Amino acid sequence: MKLFVYHTPELTPTDCLPECAIVVDVLRATTTMAKVLASGGEAVQVFSDLDLLTQTSESWPVEKRLRAGERGGAKVPGFDLGNSPLDCIPDKVQGKRLFISTTNGTRALQRVENAKVLITAALVNRNAVVKYLLQNQPEIVWIVGSGWEGTFSLEDTVCAGAIAHSILQQTNLSANEIAGNDELISAIALYGQWQNDLLGLLHHASHGKRLLGLNSHEDLKYCAQTDILDILPMQQEPGILQSHT
Ligand code: MLT
Repeated sequence: MKLFVYHTPELTPTDCLPECAIVVDVLRATTTMAKVLASGGEAVQVFSDLDLLTQTSESWPVEKRLRAGERGGAKVPGFDLGNSPLDCIPDKVQGKRLFISTTNGTRALQRVENAKVLITAALVNRNAVVKYLLQNQPEIVWIVGSGWEGTFSLEDTVCAGAIAHSILQQTNLSANEIAGNDELISAIALYGQWQNDLLGLLHHASHGKRLLGLNSHEDLKYCAQTDILDILPMQQEPGILQSHT
């Protein structure tokens, strides 16, 4: 198994796809997606276009759908939710499909939606992702950060490092044996440096600061937690993620 880290969707190769693609958007899309499914949500359906989200969800029974729209970290007016995992409690999401569009995370998912296997990772469900990788041993794995409008994000790369670090801990493999590119090694180093203060790292992150400016302190605290959700969001058909059991 070789793991490749790409800091943004734009940096992924365009002439091939991996056996397993893992999309990461710690702040906050893939944290929210894990929380929705862990809270009993029926599925998460992702859109890069807000109008298409609205049109598509129109055919869904009102009592069985929620529309989540986020741009620039803020909730889009007229949508049921923004993109805070804290809103995704069982009372609100149980049995419902979350139709969601965010600034970067949903775009990253679309970039690799044709991969054989597409799963999402955040710090909150890191261990569920690692368990899947160790059990299934995909040959080529891409860990794709969502970044911010094409730029690097600390939080997504530290999550990639958290995944790789756990694989090294649970096997007798060396970093060199699992690294598909230099970015994997740097991600392990970043996680090694911050593993005991992930909230501190999120406070340094540019998008973390953006969210703090929107009074989303509690979101950062939630997103910084590791392995609290034993849930693996997996694409079942293009753009539709459900819990993989
Ligand atoms: C993104 O897609 O860039 C993020 O999830 C935005 C956010 O909700 O903080």
